[in-house]
This record gives sequence, structure tokens and C-alpha cells, in this order.
Amino acid sequence: MKITVIGAGNVGATTAQRVADRELAHECVIVDIAEGIPQGKGLDMFEAMPVEGSDTRIIGTNGYEETANSDIVIMTAGLARKPGMSRDDLLAKNAQIVESCVKAAYEKSPNAYFIIVSNPLDVMTHVALKATGLPRNRVLGMAGVLDSARYRTFIAMELNVSVEDINAFVLGGHGDSMVPLPRFTTVAGIPISELMPQERIDAIVDRTRKGGIEIVNHLKTGSAYYAPSASAVEMAQAIIRDKRRILPCAVALEGEYGLNDVVVGVPIKIGKNGMEEIIEIELSDEEREALHNSANLVKEQIEKIS
Ligand code: LAC
Repeated sequence: MKITVIGAGNVGATTAQRVADRELAHECVIVDIAEGIPQGKGLDMFEAMPVEGSDTRIIGTNGYEETANSDIVIMTAGLARKPGMSRDDLLAKNAQIVESCVKAAYEKSPNAYFIIVSNPLDVMTHVALKATGLPRNRVLGMAGVLDSARYRTFIAMELNVSVEDINAFVLGGHGDSMVPLPRFTTVAGIPISELMPQERIDAIVDRTRKGGIEIVNHLKTGSAYYAPSASAVEMAQAIIRDKRRILPCAVALEGEYGLNDVVVGVPIKIGKNGMEEIIEIELSDEEREALHNSANLVKEQIEKIS
């Protein structure tokens, strides 16, 4: 197994580190245009492997030659959000970056699965699909796993229970319009509505929607990377180990949930063939409206760049 991580910034470097620490691949290539950064971070990480007990070889480079024949490409490059900046502000600039990087990687690794992390996430996944012409099972956006992880963390904090016992997912675009689904949220199988009052659920849903900006406001000079990288690696692991996990991921919809020509987060089965199935659940009118509203916002952004 070989994994390429595009971008040696905080998200990219942390992603490579998690891949290497878990020994998910025999080789992990970090590529970035900044001279010396991928080489330095890559070598530093490689030198941690005797201590970590992992035989992942980490290589940092400024070109795509070394990425050849990757099984998975994780796209993290792009400008990060600064305080006061919305994900949309990144739109045009990151579309160019994603298009050129993903094309270059695809030329060297025509059999790879692509996991897109660059923002605005859903639109960038659409850009990657167009740039490669790949079928939708091979180009997946990472957002739902992250948004759900935040949601689960906040529930665990509130109830003072293990994060492991929280089962939940978030639908829709990766933005303020995302759709956390309290109706499908359980703690060790117990519906969340049995465990906390509606006003606390509402507050947690609201905090989840603003989860990205909460971190940006703390950091001031960048955005989140620990939880985003963990989430991207979770998806890569599901593919590599053929786990057939049910995870919320951004995929191109072709009629599912009544949506077409748009990429948004929905629960999918993810295994060795990437997206193997879209799980369609029956939504209430209100949930469906929220999902469509979120998808329409993504569509507007797609139109802006096409
Ligand atoms: C976040 C940004 C990176 O959700 O989209 O943290």
C-alpha cells in the first residue's frame, strides 16, 4: 500500500503522521510546493518510526514523480481559513490548487482513490471529480466524519461518558448549513432525547455547525488539523482494510435523497472499492428540507466556479 498526502501543512503533515504511526502503508509520500518543508517534515517523521515501531517509509518531495502508483491520494493542500474568513472566501483560489494538484497526482496514480480535505470541501470534491473524470466511488470528500466527531465529542462532554459510546452522524455540506441528526443519535443505543433536554441538544447541534470556526477563533493563525487528519485517515483505513464502515462522506449524488449534480455528505458504505453504497434513510420533512437547503448552497458555489 502506498499513500500520497498532498500538502505538508498542518493537516497534511498530521495526516502523514497518523498514516505512519498506524503503519497503514509501506510508503507515504508527502508532496508540497514549499521547498524543504515536505523533505524536512518527512525525514523527521521517518526518524520517529524506530521509536513508533512502524515500517512506513515517509518521503517528502516537491514533485509528483515519487507519488507514482499510490493506492490512495489524500488532498489537503489549499489556503486555510483565517479569522473573519468564510470557507467560501477560499473558493476560487482553492479550486485552482485542487484542480492542478489532483490532475498531477492522477497522472501518476491512475488507480488511486482520492480523499479530498481542502475547503470548501464539497465544492473541492466536485472539482476533483471533474479534474480526474473518475467515477464517483473513487473521489470522496472528508467532512461528515469530522463534523460527526465534533458532534460526538460535545455529546460525550455533556453527558460525561465515553466518546466511544456516542453514535451519530451529520448530513449535508461542510458549512454552517450542515445537518446534524439528533433523531439518529444514540448513546450506547439509547436515543439522545432520553438523556438530555431538547435545549441542550439544540445547543450542541449549534456548536457542531460552528465547530470549525470555534477552532479558528482559538488558533487565530489557522484552522483545525488534529480532528480533520484523524477523520481523513479513518476513511483511508476503511478503504485499505476493506472495513465496509458506514461513514458520512461527501459524494456526488445521482438522484439519492432527491438530489442531482451536487456533492454533499451522506452516509455511505466505504470499503476496498471506495464508496460501495449510498445509504438512503427516510428523513422527516424538516430534515429533508435542511439537507436540500445545504445542497443548494453547495450548488450555488459550484456554479460560481464553473
Ligand atoms: C474545519 C475547517 C477546516 O471544519 O473546515 O475545521
